[in-house]
Amino acid sequence: MPSPTPISPASPISVDLAGVPLRSPVLMAAGTAGTLDEMAGVVDLSRVGGLVTKSITRHPREGNQTWRILECKVGMLNAIGLANIGIAEFEEHIAPRVGSLPTTVIGSIAGFSIDDYVQVAAAMDGIEAMPAVELNVSCPNVHGGLEFGADPALLRELVAAVRPALPETRLLVKLSPVAVAAPNSITDFARAAIESGAEPNGPNRRPGADGLCIANTVPAMGIDVRTRRPRLANVTGGLSGPAVHPIAVKLVYDAHRLVCREAGVPIVGIGGVLTWEDAAEFILAGATAVEVGTGLFVDPKLPIKLARGLETWVRRQGVANIGELVGALRLDG
Ligand SMILES: Cc1cc2nc3c(=O)[nH]c(=O)nc-3n(C[C@H](O)[C@H](O)[C@H](O)COP(=O)(O)O)c2cc1C
Repeated sequence: MPSPTPISPASPISVDLAGVPLRSPVLMAAGTAGTLDEMAGVVDLSRVGGLVTKSITRHPREGNQTWRILECKVGMLNAIGLANIGIAEFEEHIAPRVGSLPTTVIGSIAGFSIDDYVQVAAAMDGIEAMPAVELNVSCPNVHGGLEFGADPALLRELVAAVRPALPETRLLVKLSPVAVAAPNSITDFARAAIESGAEPNGPNRRPGADGLCIANTVPAMGIDVRTRRPRLANVTGGLSGPAVHPIAVKLVYDAHRLVCREAGVPIVGIGGVLTWEDAAEFILAGATAVEVGTGLFVDPKLPIKLARGLETWVRRQGVANIGELVGALRLDG
């Protein structure tokens, strides 16, 4: 089976994400690059760190009515409603192609009950050449979709149920941006995800998540004041892009220094990465890798350009590998 071109451990930007080697720490975010490899015609995937699939549910979904994706002054508003082909079609038509792609593929799972998540996880575990999955517990667009990512006890229960369904696959949990006015802080959710209490199902495996992705879109809405109607058909949606970046950097910083550093759990920083400096900020705050979503709508080749910028930065910082800069924020005078 063809596999991604070998990843040189000597490369200054190759990283190990929870046991998954990546040639670059810049990945394509869930839902922003198609179901799998629709971007292959416009970007050389062999130079991308990895791609996350569209979130897949147990049954196919049409998603919300249009308008469901809009540009706004500070980024993008979306309320796609998890439109996707469902796990059966994914297994039949998409999974067989995963191993032939020249980059690392991470599956994304969404659901509306614990059983939904477990079913999709079990199916994805059987997909060869997909070394990790991301659990989307935080889509703010679908009724009830926030539940798992909004309640640490429920999140713990979900991760405990899903973990045993993934004996062959690393589990990344993608958290909600619970930055402001939430009764629980990001550290409560980080702990819930990584200490789920489930039995480890392999050597060197954690009981809960092997890594965290921080974060999904920020709940938001827009109103057309002339018609007095909501700009999104779903009324509310999620904000992504430059506006969410500093929020996500703070969440990564808190999760890393208060929970993940000591637990040895890697973080993927997500939110408003448009330049290599944005990616580098996430790394210094404690992320091992980053995902680009909204930035792909601006320039699909962004992951390659950002990787180049990061490589120069690593050299200028005088370190051999970007891993040495993870959480290396300086707080001294
Ligand atoms: C159009 C669109 C669709 C998305 N679909 C998904 C999805 O299916 N699953 C998921 O976990 N996140 C989804 N997201 C969230 C992104 O993966 C990412 O977490 C978010 O957009 C923040 O990153 P960004 O500012 O780089 O876009 C979607 C975002 C956008 C803009």
